Amino acid sequence: MKWDSTTAARNGPRFPAMGKCLLGVSRRRGGDRGALSAQSEHSAPRFLGKRQQTRRRVGPDFPIVFRWSQWKQQDYHTKLCPTPAELERFLGPISDAGVDVFDCSTRRFWEPEFQGSSLNLAGWAKKITGKTTMTVGSVGLERSNWNDDGEFSLTDSGLASLDPLIERLEAGEFDLVGVGRMLITNPQWPNQLREGRLEEIRPYSNTHLMTLE
Ligand SMILES: Cc1cc2nc3c(=O)[nH]c(=O)nc-3n(C[C@H](O)[C@H](O)[C@H](O)COP(=O)(O)O)c2cc1C
Repeated sequence: MKWDSTTAARNGPRFPAMGKCLLGVSRRRGGDRGALSAQSEHSAPRFLGKRQQTRRRVGPDFPIVFRWSQWKQQDYHTKLCPTPAELERFLGPISDAGVDVFDCSTRRFWEPEFQGSSLNLAGWAKKITGKTTMTVGSVGLERSNWNDDGEFSLTDSGLASLDPLIERLEAGEFDLVGVGRMLITNPQWPNQLREGRLEEIRPYSNTHLMTLE
């Protein structure tokens, strides 16, 4: 597989049509919140078709990145796959269909995905599929500012050590790290880190979304 600046990235459940197809969800256990599950036996054939189409269009050497999250848009209590076994049933066919990289969207990279293991979502995706995975979520932020109740906090995020992230990366839990908000506040963040210009790095604040400075 060749890596360059272009990849085909498909965003899973956030695309309404693909979300419906992927989620293919049923309300179980009396329709409880958080009791949605991926009915891969129903959704997989339609989804596989989309993946195979993508692979045909981009050719054999072009990386396909699949970005997805466990929640449903605006509902962080939903878990698409509530157990490792369900995650395996969900990711297996997608991986077999030719996805190269799983971009596992979470709000806080340090949170375990399932009880009984410290692995986060990217960690589980790698363990299950053996594919390259990318983690994301509050990298460099001490406080996440993503509130479950949707409250728009104006408190700044503080600055967090990257050591816990690097430990996981070096342990091989995942391969790549996505960074969002730190780059909104500090567009030069990777260069600042590389060059040791740590004193220049500013904490993220939601107020930074309101200006184009
Ligand atoms: C203003 C803003 C807009 C975003 N828009 C999208 C989006 O359209 N699609 C998406 O998949 N994620 C979106 N995200 C989520 C980011 O891609 C990323 O997963 C998230 O910010 C977590 O990374 P971070 O904690 O480093 O910011 C957005 C995030 C922010 C702050």
